This record gives sequence, C-alpha cells and structure tokens, in this order.
Amino acid sequence: MKIAIVDDEQDMRQSISQWLALSGFETETYASAEEALKAIGPDWPGVVVTDVKMPGMDGMAFLKRLMGVDSGLPVILITGHGDVPMAVEAMRIGAYDFLEKPFNPDRMTDLAKRASQQRRLTLDNRALRRELSDGTVLMRKLIGSSPVMERLREDILDLGQADGHVLIVGETGTGKTLVAHALHAVGPRAGKSFVALSCAAHDEETLAAKLFGPVGEDQDKPLVEQARGGTLVLEDIESLPQPLQARLLTVINEQGSPAETRIVAICNAPEPEQCEASLRPDLFYRLAAMRIDLPPLRQRGEDILTLFTRFGEQFAEEYGTESPQVTAQEAAQLLQAPWPGNVRQLINIAERAILQQRRGSGSIASLLMADNAEIAPQAIGEGKPLKEYVEAFERMLIDNTMRRHRGSIAGVMDELCLPRRTLNEKMAKYGLSRSDYL
Ligand SMILES: Nc1ncnc2c1ncn2[C@@H]1O[C@H](COP(=O)(O)OP(=O)(O)OP(=O)(O)O)[C@@H](O)[C@H]1O
Ligand SMILES: [Mg+2]
Repeated sequence: MKIAIVDDEQDMRQSISQWLALSGFETETYASAEEALKAIGPDWPGVVVTDVKMPGMDGMAFLKRLMGVDSGLPVILITGHGDVPMAVEAMRIGAYDFLEKPFNPDRMTDLAKRASQQRRLTLDNRALRRELSDGTVLMRKLIGSSPVMERLREDILDLGQADGHVLIVGETGTGKTLVAHALHAVGPRAGKSFVALSCAAHDEETLAAKLFGPVGEDQDKPLVEQARGGTLVLEDIESLPQPLQARLLTVINEQGSPAETRIVAICNAPEPEQCEASLRPDLFYRLAAMRIDLPPLRQRGEDILTLFTRFGEQFAEEYGTESPQVTAQEAAQLLQAPWPGNVRQLINIAERAILQQRRGSGSIASLLMADNAEIAPQAIGEGKPLKEYVEAFERMLIDNTMRRHRGSIAGVMDELCLPRRTLNEKMAKYGLSRSDYL
C-alpha cells in the first residue's frame, strides 16, 4: 500500500515521507492538493496523509473531492493544534482520522498501518464483488472435465436461472462455497445482494439476532432483510437449532412462490443422510427443492491430475520456480490417494510439492503419505482398472505439452513423437481443444 503525503511545506513533506519510508511504506509526495488529485483515482491502492492549511485548495476541500473520487479512501488530516471543530467536521465528511500538530511520529505510523490494512480489505472486497457479478469468471475457476464436473457445470447454469431454494451437499473441500457463489453469479440475481452466514459459527441467540433481528442501533439490518431479492447462503445448515429452523420455515412460507430471496443451504455433514436427519422434514424438503451433490475428489479421475498441474503451475509462478513435472508413478499415486480433504487438500499438497521442488528435496509420495497415512506408496492398479490410470496420465501429458507449446501442434507432435492424426484423435478423446492453449 502506498502513502500519498500532501503538504505545501517541503520540510514537513520530506520528514513525514522519510519517517514512513523507514517504517516500510512506499511514499509519494505532493506539494498541493491539485497535484495529488491528478494522481489519485478510484481504487487507488493507498492512504492519503494531508495537511489542512495549504494555499489554493485546502485540506478540507481536498478531502471532499477525494470522497467524491473514492468514498472508501482513507484520508488522514493533519490539523492545527486545538482545532477541534474542524477535526469533527472532517470526520463527518469521511476522514479516516486526524493528527493534531505537533504529533508523535509513532502515532502517525500506527495510523498509517491501520488505514492501509483497512484499504487493502476494501479493495479486496471490491475485487471479489466484481468477480461475483461476473459469472463466467467463477465458472472458469471451476477446474475439471470429468463427467461429474461437466454435469455440475450444467446444473449450476440451469439452477442459476431457476428460483427454488438449493441444497448443496458434499464432503469438506469439494467446492460447496465456490458453487454457492457461482449459482448466484450466473443467474438473474447476479447484481443483487449476496449474504452468507455459517450456522455453526454462533450460539442460538446470536444466530437468531443476526438472521431475523432485532439488531441493536448502529448495526446492519438482519440478514434475511439484507438478502432480500438476492441470495442468502446458510453454511453448515445442519447446525441450525430447531427453534430457528421453525422461524426460517415461516420466512420461507411467507415469501410464497417464486421466492423473492433464494436460500442456498450448504450441508457439511460427512454423510448426506445426516443432513436430512438434522433438519425438520418440512424445512428439508423446502430447501432441497433443488439439490447439488458435489462429488468427492477421488471420484473425479483425471481431474485430479488437471487440478494438480494447474495449481502446481500457479504456485510455481508465485514462488518463482519451474512448473512441476509429474512422473507416471506420481500420477498413479495422486490418482489413488483417498483425498479426504478433497480439492482444498490437493491445493495444499500442490503448494508443498512446489516448495519441496524449490528446495530440491522430498517427493509427492512422501507428502501424500504424511497426509493420508493409509495409502501405500507404489500400489498401482489397485481399485481402478489400469486403463484408467494410463488414460489419465496420457491426457495430463498432452495437456501439459500443449500448454508449454502454446497450442503449437507441430511442437507437441515433435516432443511426444506422435503423428498428427493420433494426436488429433487423442485430443478429441480427452476433450482437449487447441484453441484453449493459444
Ligand atoms: N473444481 C474446482 N476447481 C478449482 N478450484 C476448486 C474447485 N473446487 C474447489 N476449489 C477450490 O478449493 C478450495 C475449497 O473449496 P470450497 O471452500 O468451495 O469447499 P467447501 O466444500 O465449501 O469446503 P468446506 O466444507 O470446508 O466449507 C477453494 O480454494 C476453492 O476455490
Ligand atoms: Mg465452504
């Protein structure tokens, strides 16, 4: 995060800048508000520290202009000693905080730190919300082309358009939360509110207040109000206490049909039956009007390798090392692991594999062994037909090679010693398309 320091006095500007730079901030200095306004636009990644008394546009007018540019921008004002009314007015307009001259430099650093943290949070949330309103981005985030994943994509697109409530069931880390976002983003509610709450995160009293109100002064509206017209996601629905289940049912019944607010209930119980058992039947049937069952990773075959290489590449780039090369034996091990933590666990193992590779030690097998104590390291051919492993590995190799050659068929033919016709046939068989690599 940057800090823009605006002050007409050069000495002051320099000393604040030096001090903050010593504390690790990237600083920029401006001799006037007019000059600073040219550099600061919406989503500007930083915090503004400005003097109030300046010739030309003063600090208060500058603050008002900045609030017009980006109302979430933290602005710290440096006011004259004892100028309380002005400080109060500044806070009312939207200043982050003010410092009275002469100020303690440590307090300045402290304020700058907190303001930058807030700024980062604001910008992250904005980015996420933008992503949320763009369904295609979220759909592209869902990796995998196994039949179960293809069906899941169709389900998301279909159910995204529909009005009924949805129940999402699946083991931990299978992508339930991601799918809840996607359901909202691909349908007509995309621009409307999206509100999520975990029913396992609060006691009954707090949950009741958060969901249905009443809430105290200065607090946000109850979630059922906030979500009106949009999507209300209830994570860990199996933990919703019985009395609140009754109130939720009332809300659902009062809405009539089609429902104004769509409820997406997420069930985290390891067995789908447990979810049904923990909800009163009338509520369960309302929520499960439409249902999405997320398959565990171990049932997604070759997707395991696709996910592993994609995330491996991502981490390789992040850590500045080479993309992972998965051997046939490692591929078989990845395909055979039980993956109790599903995609989240796979992402974690991919990251650790890259870190190991950077250090030049360790193996994927040892990571898998540490994570899933029960798997045997070299047992190929157990449980699944050999053909499945071979095909998954073949697909991964072609996929990786195509990506490395950026879709150049000639390059891939050459590297894998394959005649064009065979390569085309295999690509068609595995649903790979050259245009995806260009
Ligand atoms: N098909 C997928 N392709 C790419 N990333 C995925 C896929 N499925 C899940 N992920 C990623 O895996 C991680 C776990 O997914 P998510 O949080 O949605 O799972 P969950 O089922 O909600 O887990 P939990 O039960 O712990 O809440 C996230 O980082 C998510 O982005
Ligand atoms: Mg989740």
